[in-house]
Amino acid sequence: MFFKQTLGIQHPIVQAPMAGVTTPDFVAACTEIGILGSIGAGYLSATETRTIIRQVKARTNGPYSVNLFVPDNTPFDQKQIRVAYEALKPIGEQLGMPFWKASLSEPDFHGQIDVIIEEKPASCSFTFGIPAVESVERLHDAGILLIGTATTLDEAMAVQQAGLDMVVIQGAEAGGHRGSFLPEGPLIPLDDLLAEVRDVLQIPIIAAGGIATNARMTELMNKGATAVQVGTAFLATAESGAAPVYKQAVLNASSDDTVITRIFSGRPARGIRNRFIDQMDQSPIAPYPYQNDLTKRIRKQAAVQNNAEFLSLWAGTSVHCTQAGTVESVISRLLTKH
Ligand SMILES: Cc1cc2nc3c(=O)[nH]c(=O)nc-3n(C[C@H](O)[C@H](O)[C@H](O)COP(=O)(O)O)c2cc1C
Repeated sequence: MFFKQTLGIQHPIVQAPMAGVTTPDFVAACTEIGILGSIGAGYLSATETRTIIRQVKARTNGPYSVNLFVPDNTPFDQKQIRVAYEALKPIGEQLGMPFWKASLSEPDFHGQIDVIIEEKPASCSFTFGIPAVESVERLHDAGILLIGTATTLDEAMAVQQAGLDMVVIQGAEAGGHRGSFLPEGPLIPLDDLLAEVRDVLQIPIIAAGGIATNARMTELMNKGATAVQVGTAFLATAESGAAPVYKQAVLNASSDDTVITRIFSGRPARGIRNRFIDQMDQSPIAPYPYQNDLTKRIRKQAAVQNNAEFLSLWAGTSVHCTQAGTVESVISRLLTKH
């Protein structure tokens, strides 16, 4: 009740922020149907963040969320990045791209925070860390509800300690990047993580990872989750911004087709296993965000060529439950008892 009332939504479901996938139509459709639509703004500049927020606002008056990646200022090691680039060349060659320009991204986290304060979404969520206390205070003063992401009990406690209002606990089943920010925590299944945090935390818990059915959603809420966050189940919808070849790979995947890999970005993330992952298995990689910058052009080119073997096909362990349709059909399945 608290969750729905505070955010002004009808159903205790958060559409997972998914950088690159969450188009304005997608987010607005989720909000209009009564769940919390979320913009994945992690890779965007401050200007791009404002643009997509305004596009969502043009489509709905309802509450929506914006997700940001907290930067960790990883040192730039030219030699390490050169070695990682060289290791990627055989992949580039298979796409007819023996050389490519890899521009390094320049995160503008503080610029994004300023935009959030001006545009005032209902909530703002954070991945890969917790914002500094001044940012938390400024966002709260602007009336924005703050959501952290945790993959362990220690991270969930840190989110609560920092004064954030809710926490997404991300189980090992989750598709996409793990939101971890404390050194190398273990990979914890969602049920175990929920059991660890529910008696310790006072803030509401949003459970994420492998949720694709009403039965699973109800089970998690009976076990103490206030809401659930769902990503993979939406990937193949008409409104999703995933490339057509990615949607098809998701629809064709079986339950044991996903693995966790650092190869695409330098951070661990779960996706459908393909040739890129297999061929680069033992190769040197640069730390996040540099590896992500190095592989960006390759992934773009793979999408242009409709080649799923060299794309990052982020998806959770319930990928086999994903169906084609619309945002509305996915939400109605999640809300219907079978
Ligand atoms: C394609 C994709 C992109 C994602 N991008 C983000 C992101 O930008 N920010 C974030 O906090 N989580 C991201 N996630 C993780 C989701 O927030 C969430 O934890 C996950 O989707 C839940 O598991 P499920 O995919 O099995 O439903 C992404 C997940 C997927 C599948």
